Amino acid sequence: MTASTIRPARPADAAAIAEIYNQGIRGRQATFETEERTAEERAAWLAAHDERHPCLVAAIPEAAGERVVGWVATDTYRPRHCYRGIAEFSVYVHEDYRGRGIGAALLEAIAAAAARAGLWKLVSRVFPENTASRALCARAGFREVGVYQRHAMLDGVWRDVVIVERLLNAERGARSAER
Ligand SMILES: CC(C)(COP(=O)(O)OP(=O)(O)OC[C@H]1O[C@@H](n2cnc3c(N)ncnc32)[C@H](O)[C@@H]1OP(=O)(O)O)[C@@H](O)C(=O)NCCC(=O)NCCS
Repeated sequence: MTASTIRPARPADAAAIAEIYNQGIRGRQATFETEERTAEERAAWLAAHDERHPCLVAAIPEAAGERVVGWVATDTYRPRHCYRGIAEFSVYVHEDYRGRGIGAALLEAIAAAAARAGLWKLVSRVFPENTASRALCARAGFREVGVYQRHAMLDGVWRDVVIVERLLNAERGARSAER
């Protein structure tokens, strides 16, 4: 376990977030995205996040201050009003810091933030071959709902995805669903 601080992302984190995301894109196990991102693009992406759909980072202490080694973000699941309490999440940890509990800490923090914001469910889609992500989600209390077959192509090859969901604070969620 590496002791990390989980905090809301700041504009200055955009370069580290882009670097970590690009590692995931190049690895071809995490996302259908193939276009690598720049710090500028991630800064604009960060600016679109808010308290309801935050981006959090994991930072570890370093002599010069701290180093951002992972991030997690939620986004709107669907624009329809009835789905406003559901968010999709993405989580990425720097290659050199995987397997140290950072992904688990990020997922717990985003689940707590989402519950506080009145959301009732987190969902994501994971490639069946992404053993690390499936293990992380299972450990964090996500249920594998099923498999979308031939969901999209990556590098010209059809790929399936496993849908995962975690119900958050049911009572708060029910209250926010009534509003
Ligand atoms: C998936 C990812 C975020 C996991 O983060 P991490 O910090 O390495 O995960 P953790 O160290 O917190 O491990 C969480 C659990 O998953 C398990 N796990 C992690 N990596 C694993 C692997 N490669 N194989 C099997 N289990 C693994 C751990 O053992 C742990 O379970 P435990 O507490 O029961 O031992 C990281 O591998 C990553 O960034 N991958 C590339 C991006 C990606 O695939 N993101 C998910 C798609 S949105």
